[in-house]
Amino acid sequence: MRFGIIGAGPIGSIISKKLVKSGHDVKIADARGIERLDGKELAGRTVRVEDAIKNIEVLIISLPIKALPSIRNIIDQIGEEVIIVDTSNYYPYRDGIIEEIENGMVESIWVSNHLGRPVIKAFNNLLAYTLENEGTAEDSSGRVAMAVAGNDPSQKQVVMDLVFELGFDVVDSGSLNDSWRQQPGTPAYCTELTKDELTKALKKAIKENAPLLRDKVMERFAKLFAEKNEVEFSHKDIVNINREIYNS
Ligand SMILES: NC(=O)c1ccc[n+]([C@@H]2O[C@H](COP(=O)([O-])OP(=O)(O)OC[C@H]3O[C@@H](n4cnc5c(N)ncnc54)[C@H](OP(=O)(O)O)[C@@H]3O)[C@@H](O)[C@H]2O)c1
Repeated sequence: MRFGIIGAGPIGSIISKKLVKSGHDVKIADARGIERLDGKELAGRTVRVEDAIKNIEVLIISLPIKALPSIRNIIDQIGEEVIIVDTSNYYPYRDGIIEEIENGMVESIWVSNHLGRPVIKAFNNLLAYTLENEGTAEDSSGRVAMAVAGNDPSQKQVVMDLVFELGFDVVDSGSLNDSWRQQPGTPAYCTELTKDELTKALKKAIKENAPLLRDKVMERFAKLFAEKNEVEFSHKDIVNINREIYNS
């Protein structure tokens, strides 16, 4: 398939590499200028953001949520048939306070409103490390699963098939309205679960608790960092802290 990616942080770059490895046609752009891609470890053709949207079937946007409104003019030029995937998560310490989300608006609804069209929410509930290193063959036991939400069933199916192809089981997590169940602070968020476990975790989520638990995890990481004066905890430690706090 033909993909455009906007955003070359860890997630955008890892997706570019996995897609190219899987035989897809990939263009990748930085929303703030092609020169910012210099020296980055990614795959596919590096292009200007205006070119990333040309002649593609799927656009993957992987930016900090606060930056999404800045690409509205680009999104306005994209045909209805192009599937738009959003990987973003809201962290107020990083993104600043977004009042509507603070007041309970589902993050992907906020994103869709600002982009002027619905997105498919995917790639947000796995850590970059997980995405890069823990994809496995389809019949592997303990295969990690990703949640995919969206309003258009056929677009969602395309993205679910793609996630499966890239090494992960998939759980259809419902419509965008339901996608708060995979936001930061929920049991489904970055806890590396199998398909069955993820299905249960999505059901178990409590919307009101999520922001509090999200911030609790960040506080725990900050404390660990301060105590050790360097990041000494492993990927597994991070997943375990997420599991412990998001399930409390
Ligand atoms: N990292 C993870 O483990 C993870 C997991 C799941 C989902 N996510 C979510 O996926 C999205 C991407 O995260 P990420 O960690 O891959 O990368 P990121 O650090 O959020 O950066 C992604 C891209 O956005 C660009 N960018 C940063 N600030 C911008 C701004 N104000 N305007 C326009 N572009 C800007 C960056 O450019 P520069 O490199 O030039 O700064 C980079 O190309 C985020 O919403 C994140 O919450 C992250």
